[in-house]
Amino acid sequence: MDIKSIEDFHSKIKRIIISEQEIAQAVKEAGETISRSYDGRPILLVSILKGSFVFLSDLCRAITVPCEVGFMCAKSYYEGTVSTGVVKITMDLEQDISNYHVIIVEDIIDTGRTLNDVVKMLKARNPLSLRVVTLLDKPSRRIVDFKADMALFTIPDHFIIGYGLDCGEYYRNLPYIAEFAE
Ligand code: IMP
Ligand code: MG
Repeated sequence: MDIKSIEDFHSKIKRIIISEQEIAQAVKEAGETISRSYDGRPILLVSILKGSFVFLSDLCRAITVPCEVGFMCAKSYYEGTVSTGVVKITMDLEQDISNYHVIIVEDIIDTGRTLNDVVKMLKARNPLSLRVVTLLDKPSRRIVDFKADMALFTIPDHFIIGYGLDCGEYYRNLPYIAEFAE
């Protein structure tokens, strides 16, 4: 992405959709729910990189029972802000997941293609159980029928940035979620 100046960078942040405070509250509640439902069982939080790294770091600290973390890199290819439908696993987990209750931690479900592929792949490895937690859900954009077990926020069809989500690799470091000015 071609950003010419700091003013240019800021001018593409159209409006804040979800504030830092709203995110913090929802993440706290998700952590409490997970802690209650998995109490004492071996949990592996599987972060789908890159987008979910910020969410994972806050969510794992909101969980009060023992849990481990693992990372997978699934790259969904975009042309500008439009998904091309090509999903590639560029980095896999190092753990054998058969002794874990796996919770996939995702930033956003858009067409559903990425998680549909990742879930199929991880189910084939026989985890004790498998659930999906997503920070954001854009159900109106679904191409593949896919539903998360927990979605913190449901949002309309806007291209969004911040709190881990990027446009051309920029804006992941915004502490809030904003609409991108296309
Ligand atoms: P899906 O495979 O179409 O469900 O897309 C999932 C991936 O696309 C997410 O993990 C994001 O990395 C990316 N993505 C989808 N929508 C957005 C958006 O509005 N902003 C930034 N990234 C997005
Ligand atoms: Mg992602």
